[in-house]
Amino acid sequence: MSARWQAVDAYIADKLLCADDALAATLANNAAKGLPPIDVSAAQGKMLFLLAQIAGARRILEIGTLGGYSTTWLARALPDDGELVTLELDAHHAAVARENLENAGVSAKVDIRVGPAATSLAAMISEAPFDFVFIDADKQSGAHYVGEAIRLGRPGTTIIVDNVVREGGVLDANSEDERIVGTRALFDRIAADPRLDATAVQTVGAKKWDGFMLARVR
Ligand code: SAH
Ligand code: DHB
Ligand code: MG
Repeated sequence: MSARWQAVDAYIADKLLCADDALAATLANNAAKGLPPIDVSAAQGKMLFLLAQIAGARRILEIGTLGGYSTTWLARALPDDGELVTLELDAHHAAVARENLENAGVSAKVDIRVGPAATSLAAMISEAPFDFVFIDADKQSGAHYVGEAIRLGRPGTTIIVDNVVREGGVLDANSEDERIVGTRALFDRIAADPRLDATAVQTVGAKKWDGFMLARVR
């Protein structure tokens, strides 16, 4: 089935997404520099762009930069004076992302902070609230990152979490895969938090069967 899922993603991209030299260059540079091809898909990137615009986001927080593919989509949704802070553990990933964001013409809006996201987040105390948060880093820490997103947000902040279905792996209550354990802890955390309204939507496509969580701070 996944060949057909990929063909439909190609159809969607062909019909609804413009040819995009900067993003194609980002993916090529990522591959050339040895980054894993785990960026969001083109259709998902455009969805993030649209959701950030619908939210009227002026300040965006991203956790998990990789080569800046999703970062570029999100930065493009910002007004000229908007800001995006993106957190990345791996200095090589961050260096490649810097090149890609520069090439895409969005680097002036983007602040890449290198180090464990939990450390960078803990240091964020007096920043203006974020309007939109995209969580896409280590899947073990999703519950912690959602808590930080609430702390650094405001009523109405949009929170999106990538990879919450993992080909159905989320159902495995006895999993020893810490990414699955972490994703289940994320669902438990969100289910128990009266400050959030949330759902999750399953997706198929170029990135196989997965899904994203969508939450709004009350
Ligand atoms: N959002 C990107 C993909 C991110 S892949 C896109 O769609 O284009 C996940 C990234 O999270 C990787 O670059 C990985 O190095 C980073 N990461 C993993 N653990 C992390 C941590 N503890 N803190 C910050 N980043 C982390
Ligand atoms: C994988 C996919 C992702 O979107 C991600 O953020 C991390 C890992 C994966 O397929 O392994
Ligand atoms: Mg992801």
